[in-house]
Amino acid sequence: MNNDLYAVVGNPISHSKSPRIHSLFASQTGEQLEYTAIQAPENDFAGTVTGFFQRGGKGLNVTVPFKEQAWKLADRRTERAQLAGAANTLYQDSEGLLIADNTDGKGLVTDLTANHGIGLTGRRILVLGAGGAVRGVLGPVLAEKPAAIVIANRTVAKAEALVTLFEPVAGQTRLEACGFEQPTEPFDLIINGTSASLQHDLPPVSANVIGADTVIYDMMYSLQTTTFNQWALDQGATRVFDGLGMLVEQAAESFRLWRGIRPETRPVIDELRND
Ligand code: ATR
Repeated sequence: MNNDLYAVVGNPISHSKSPRIHSLFASQTGEQLEYTAIQAPENDFAGTVTGFFQRGGKGLNVTVPFKEQAWKLADRRTERAQLAGAANTLYQDSEGLLIADNTDGKGLVTDLTANHGIGLTGRRILVLGAGGAVRGVLGPVLAEKPAAIVIANRTVAKAEALVTLFEPVAGQTRLEACGFEQPTEPFDLIINGTSASLQHDLPPVSANVIGADTVIYDMMYSLQTTTFNQWALDQGATRVFDGLGMLVEQAAESFRLWRGIRPETRPVIDELRND
């Protein structure tokens, strides 16, 4: 009997860690599955997805630059995917409808709370960036009931648009938008959701946002310390994390949706860190 087939779709895709992560999950849990990487042409993501499921594929992860297209393509979206405006997980329900979910926010929150022991409830959080990556995680972060989330972005209008979008689900959490230079008080947690580190660039935030107990989380990850985390360390931050745990946790949540079993993430995070 053939193994159930899963894949990650992106462009480019050759550097994706997802096949490695999911095959480690499969061997750990004893699930019989095959997980590959598919590079979709820029102009035919929909054809790639349709073809995959027609061949009997069971589930897809979706990465750059197709997460918004995956969201649009779906017949149904989970509530968290609906708010995220992007999907990283696709599967078919029993009637063959294409379901879109987004496990990125859950991945971030699980990494912070379960892996690093950082509670978000009642905390003041500075979020840097207002693009797709930030929109993708705000819902699950808000669900933890922080006291305040300040969204700072180069283009302030995009931060303001996110505040408007998430206000209805913000509950008691104060949501604010501003430019990078504006915040000058220490925060409990700073999440870098800009893609600036990719260009070895830094969002120009004041060093005063970092206090003695401030936790720093860069949603990016790389083998070396990210540009943002290095800057934070240089300002005296002591609790600094990158997004490797988030990457593994979002994968674990997708695996759980598809297979009904949640793999242990710690050994997988450790193995990837030691690559
Ligand atoms: P992603 O899916 O990674 O979020 P995106 O939607 O293009 O990609 O958003 C990138 C984010 O990083 C945005 O907040 C962007 O700022 P703008 O909204 O002003 O474009 C931010 N960003 C990218 N490069 C940056 C840089 N060099 N300095 C500061 N912010 C940067």
